[in-house]
Amino acid sequence: MADNAGADEYTPTPDPIDFALLPDNAAIGSDGELSIGGCSVRELAAEFGTPLFIYDEDHLRSRVREAVAAFGPGVAYASKAFLCKAMAQLVHEEGMDLDVSTAGEFHIAIAAGVPARHLIFHGNNKSLDELRTVVSAGVNRIIVDSFDEMDRLDALYAEGLPAPDILIRITPGIEAHTHEFISTGRDDSKFGFTVSTGVAKTAIERALNSESMNLRGIHAHIGSQVFRVDSFAKSAEVIAAVGAPYGLEEVSVGGGLGVPYVAGEESFSISEWSNVVHDALSASGVTARVTAEPGRSIAASAAITVYTVGTIKHLDGIRTYVAVDGGMSDNPRPVLYGSGYEAFAPSHPDAERDQRVRIVGKHCESGDVLVREAQVPSTLAVGDLLATPVTGAYGHSMGSNYNAVTRPPVVFCSEGNARLVVRRETLNDLLSRDV
Ligand SMILES: Cc1ncc(COP(=O)(O)O)c(C=O)c1O
Repeated sequence: MADNAGADEYTPTPDPIDFALLPDNAAIGSDGELSIGGCSVRELAAEFGTPLFIYDEDHLRSRVREAVAAFGPGVAYASKAFLCKAMAQLVHEEGMDLDVSTAGEFHIAIAAGVPARHLIFHGNNKSLDELRTVVSAGVNRIIVDSFDEMDRLDALYAEGLPAPDILIRITPGIEAHTHEFISTGRDDSKFGFTVSTGVAKTAIERALNSESMNLRGIHAHIGSQVFRVDSFAKSAEVIAAVGAPYGLEEVSVGGGLGVPYVAGEESFSISEWSNVVHDALSASGVTARVTAEPGRSIAASAAITVYTVGTIKHLDGIRTYVAVDGGMSDNPRPVLYGSGYEAFAPSHPDAERDQRVRIVGKHCESGDVLVREAQVPSTLAVGDLLATPVTGAYGHSMGSNYNAVTRPPVVFCSEGNARLVVRRETLNDLLSRDV
C-alpha cells in the first residue's frame, strides 16, 4: 500500500468507481443514477449549479461519534480540514471539541455558537492579538509552539488576562511516511519544540515554572495522510518518555490518520487508530487522558465534488484532456502534493470507465490538473456531470479565488433532504474587499 498514493504512481482501472470511496450513504437509484444522503446528484447539480461540494451529513456525524467514542472528552475536530458554521455546529452537537488554528477559524466556530471552552487553539505563529482574543474568550487549551509564544502569554498575563491551560507541542523526531509538505514530526520542522536537542524539556520546565500558563500536558502531531499506524505508536512512545518525569494529566497525539483516495488504498478506522495509540501509551505507563485531533478522517470521504464537462480535446497520439468548470481553486491537492483521485460519471456510477483521460480545470495554468490519470466512461460528453470522490477535506478549506473564479457552494444531504450550508460566491463577493 502506498503511503500517499500520488498521481504519478497510481494507475486507475476501467472498473466502475469503487463505492468504498464514496460517502456511506451513496446509492444507485432506480433511475441508475447516484444519490448521496437520499438526494439525486443530478437534481442537486441542477438546483445549485456546478462545481458543487455534496456532503453526506450522516457520514460526517458517524465519524464524529466514532472519534468521541474512541478517545472520549477533549477529542477535537481539526477544523482546517473543512469548516463552515454548519460543520462547526454538527461537530459540537455530536460532543466533539474543535481545533482552530487562526483567528479566522476561531471566529467561524464562535459564530456557529460553539462555546470557547470547547475550542483548542493551535498555530506555529500565533499573534499577540490572536492570543489575546482566545485567552479572553476562555478557550479550553492553547497548544504552545514556541518560546516567542510563551513571551506573548507572559505579556498577556502582565496585562491582567488569566493564565490559560496549555499543552506543549513537541517535535518527536518521527518519520511519518507522508508527503514532505504535510510531514510535521521530523526534527527539521517549523512546528513545536524539538525533543532530540532537549529544547522540549526546556519548554516544559519553563511552562511548569510560569505563572502565565498552566501546563496540562504534551502534544505531538506527526503529519497528515499517514497510513502507518506504527508511526503514531512511535510518536506516542516519545510523548510518554518526554512527559514521564512530570506526571502530566493529558497527552494529545494530534491528527493525521490517512484515508484512501483511490481504489486499492486501505487505511485504519478512527477506532483502530485510537486502539494503537492507547495501547502504545499504556504500554509506556501513561495513565493521563489521551486526546487527538482528527480532521481528514472525519471529513474527507464524506463528500464528492461534482463538475460539468465543458471541453474535450483529443490530442492524437498524446492524450485526451477533459476540462471541467472548476479546478485547482476548489481542489489544490493534486497541484500541491501530486495527490491522486478517481473520477466517475454520477449519472452512470456503475458504468465501465473505459477511457483514459486527464481531467483539468479552467485556470490559466498548465499545472491546473485535477486527475492526472483518470478512467472515465468513453461515452462522456460535453455537458455531462463528472465527479471526484473523497474531496471533503482540504478542498473547500484550501480553495482560492484564483482567476477570480467564484468558490463553489456546499450542500449537506441527509435522508432525502438537501440543505445549502455555504452558498456559491458571487461576482459581487469578488469586489467586496476593493475600496
Ligand atoms: C496540529 C494539527 N492537528 C491536527 C491536524 C489534522 O490532521 P488530519 O486532517 O490529517 O487528521 C493537523 C493537520 O495538518 C495539524 O496540523
